[in-house]
Amino acid sequence: MNAGEKRDMATKRSWVDEKAHTELARVRLAREKQVYPYFREFERGGLHTSIAGKEIINFSSNDYLGLTNHPKVKEAAKAAVDKYACGLSSSRPQATTSEHVDLEKRLAAWFRFPACLMFTTGYQAMLGTIAALADKDTTLVLDAFSHACILDGAFLAAGVPGRQPEIRFFNHNSAKSLERILKTRERKNALVLLEGVYSLDGDTANLKEFIEICDRYDAVLLVDDAHGTGTQGKNGRGILEAMNIEGQVPIVVSTFSKTFGGIGGILVASQEIVDLVKNSARSFLFSASLPVPVVAAASTILDMLEKDGASLVAELHQKADYMRAGLTKIGFDLGASNTHIMPVMCKDERKTLFMHIALLECGVMMVPLTYPSVKQGEERLRVNVTRGHTKEDMDTALELLATYGDAFFVLSGEDLGPMED
Ligand SMILES: Cc1ncc(COP(=O)(O)O)c(C=O)c1O
Repeated sequence: MNAGEKRDMATKRSWVDEKAHTELARVRLAREKQVYPYFREFERGGLHTSIAGKEIINFSSNDYLGLTNHPKVKEAAKAAVDKYACGLSSSRPQATTSEHVDLEKRLAAWFRFPACLMFTTGYQAMLGTIAALADKDTTLVLDAFSHACILDGAFLAAGVPGRQPEIRFFNHNSAKSLERILKTRERKNALVLLEGVYSLDGDTANLKEFIEICDRYDAVLLVDDAHGTGTQGKNGRGILEAMNIEGQVPIVVSTFSKTFGGIGGILVASQEIVDLVKNSARSFLFSASLPVPVVAAASTILDMLEKDGASLVAELHQKADYMRAGLTKIGFDLGASNTHIMPVMCKDERKTLFMHIALLECGVMMVPLTYPSVKQGEERLRVNVTRGHTKEDMDTALELLATYGDAFFVLSGEDLGPMED
């Protein structure tokens, strides 16, 4: 091949380049209009950070108890770096430490389950658990608003030759719809998957009704409590504690990426279910072990929850109540939210993006959620109140939201009018 041919090869666009170009049309347009909202670069950790030198209060973080940057948590992680470095260079069958096993035992006891298994992410915990349990005799029954990890877990299981469970959806949080699906399922066994607290809408699952229906139709319930862990229940043990139904749901999946200050997945269930997942889930067996500094950080936060959980959660709820009262007084629609997750409904893509940009310019970050993350007409700003936010942070945000909610017709609901070039 001569030099010219080599140059042609390097510049020739393949179908992959064409595909990327075509599918990025919306992203290009948003960047041109300077409203592309994602991948902003934080310059330090925490709810109070900076972006491009500007101080920012972050209301889209999931650091619900504001413990991620606690000095004791960082100290524990630093000590673990000295002992184990940042990685173990292998997956759990060959790279388990006593720190992993100790924390699994403590988490099982805290969540009040017989056993626990930690994964490297919550996403992998869900994928692995579904894959281990679902086969051709199983119908997976999903809430229509399920998180990507539940959807992907179900679709992945459905693609495994010889296993291929049936997948069915029920209307969001509807007991009637769940019952209809369970009655008409094609397979003998049913696994019902839902979230304790829904991350986009901030509403809680009607678990008592679901438990009763699952009992009646001989179905097993799996709750993803990623957003309920540390936020719901008097002591923060999650949605089961909040609803006084501990012991009535056999499988819970959660995460370290919110309240627990790092990254990592949690499965709590019976010893045999945990052992089955541990010995068969590919997302567990074929991905590197959770780094020990992350285990140490989560373990330190668990100490705090064991000691002071009730007061930490109470503080979060006081702050969430303050913000909810402020947003409601201004006149915002918070959708179905009844938790610290309060979507500010803008119901229009442009209004949502403009609100986001205007707030960010003034030092408040509320990430926009637009189609396809939410349905068209349900676009909103993601507003998560955490224990780490101060009254001043919330007052600043409320004042800005009132100003721009008015300026961009979010409060009045009028149309923005045609876009001008
Ligand atoms: C409901 C829900 N489940 C699971 C996950 C996945 O957790 P992780 O960040 O640990 O992968 C998330 C994270 O966004 C979530 O919101």
